[in-house]
Amino acid sequence: MRPRPRVSQWKELWKAQKQSYRDEAVWEKVPHKASCNNWLAKIYARLIVAFHQDSDVRLVVVEVGAGHGRFGFLVVTELLDMGFHNFIYVLTDFCNDVINKWVENAQLMKLVREGWMDFAVFDADTSTDLFLQCRNMKIHVDHLVVIMNYVIDSLCQDVFEFEEENVYEVSAQFGKDTSWNDTDEWEWKRRPIKDISSYYRGYAHSAALQSLLHTYKDVAANHSVILPVGAIIALCNLLEIAQGNCMTLAGDKGDMEVCAFPTCGVVPHVSSHHSVSFTANFHSLQLVFESRFQNCQVLKSLESDVFNCMCLISRKCTDVSLEWRDTLGEVAADSFLHFQSVLGPDSVALTSVLALLRLSNFDSDIFLLVCNRLLQHSPFVNGGILNDMVADLVRVSQRYFFMANKDVMFELGRVMMGLKEYRHALNFLSQSRNEEHFIAIFNMGVCKFHQRHFEESVVLFEEAFLASNEKYTQALRWSKRAKLLCK
Ligand SMILES: C[S@@+](CC[C@H](N)C(=O)[O-])C[C@H]1O[C@@H](n2cnc3c(N)ncnc32)[C@H](O)[C@@H]1O
Repeated sequence: MRPRPRVSQWKELWKAQKQSYRDEAVWEKVPHKASCNNWLAKIYARLIVAFHQDSDVRLVVVEVGAGHGRFGFLVVTELLDMGFHNFIYVLTDFCNDVINKWVENAQLMKLVREGWMDFAVFDADTSTDLFLQCRNMKIHVDHLVVIMNYVIDSLCQDVFEFEEENVYEVSAQFGKDTSWNDTDEWEWKRRPIKDISSYYRGYAHSAALQSLLHTYKDVAANHSVILPVGAIIALCNLLEIAQGNCMTLAGDKGDMEVCAFPTCGVVPHVSSHHSVSFTANFHSLQLVFESRFQNCQVLKSLESDVFNCMCLISRKCTDVSLEWRDTLGEVAADSFLHFQSVLGPDSVALTSVLALLRLSNFDSDIFLLVCNRLLQHSPFVNGGILNDMVADLVRVSQRYFFMANKDVMFELGRVMMGLKEYRHALNFLSQSRNEEHFIAIFNMGVCKFHQRHFEESVVLFEEAFLASNEKYTQALRWSKRAKLLCK
């Protein structure tokens, strides 16, 4: 019988994991609200500016495992909004299939054309440099920011148990007749490691990995430790590409202290949402930084079960610490996720809804959550509140990164109609990607009607009727009304 491989060498698992991310439909299943929202993008952008404040060299921001590209889009939007221009943002993922989707994306390609963004294949397991696909050149990096959101958990790992004297390798197998990602059915077994000093022989950055094993033998007695081998190799490779300063911003579901690790005998927690995800060991990244940079700085968000953030800097940086203290040092990194669940089904005061939208930095997911409430309130809004609300909705539209199944422009159009802001409503509705597009066309007709452009409204009502396969008779009724007023 074939010996059971250690987790990092479990070929079937890592092959299936990568395969699952080649398909764009994966984003309908993999949760990403905690890591990809405007609130967090603004915080990361502010940390980036604070890190690079006194430098003339161009900063390179590299996002590892950028997936759909939404977070990169949001961070660049914030950086530009803050008037920061001395950077290039490199979206990376492990294969060309993902990058080809970015090349087809008009919002990302606009940022590429303007010189703020580029794309690179960066496989955390193997890549040692960054080749910019759009500029067709290798990049030179002086100052570097690495962003790793929800990626430490997705790369290859190893699992160990450290007893008083003995160290065990813990490995798994798929359960019989179950799918690779049915993690509850994995069968775990442990076996003693004779000599930990040679455990990572043949791996890239074996010295760093080896040194982590020795440290955990000293500091993690009676604990089970998940070692994020892929993330550590990727980070070491990126630190070697950079010539000078580096800041890493990592966000994930994971543990920041050894005391949070499970005790020996507890089966490692691996969750599954189409792909699989291990609990991220942030603490090991801290050890990597501490061993490389004598004066490094480590900042940790408040602990939470869903999403934590860690900032690692190669030198002490007061501006970043101050920025951190006012943001992730004060509230947990997944506060917005929890805040959303506070909103119950009953109507909430307009001031609460607007406060949430503004605190979220005009996040489109939050907007979708509250848009029906905004609509309920819209007929009664006027004066200064109306002006502010219109400005809020425009900001949502500027920060919206298109993803399937979310027709934010259509909903923005509806709320603008409720506010009787027909010019804005027409602009948003014309960008709707709703599959039931005839309703968007019909709504545009209603806007034109209220603007007293009756002839144009007739054209739109008839277009909506045809687009509905002649089912939406309401469009015909409005068309008749408009025709009477044309004369
Ligand atoms: C859970 S998703 C996170 C996506 C995004 N960062 C977010 O926060 O929503 C994990 C990402 O890691 C990428 N990934 C998986 N294996 C990788 C590897 N070996 N090297 C680089 N990226 C990888 C996947 O393609 C996917 O985009």
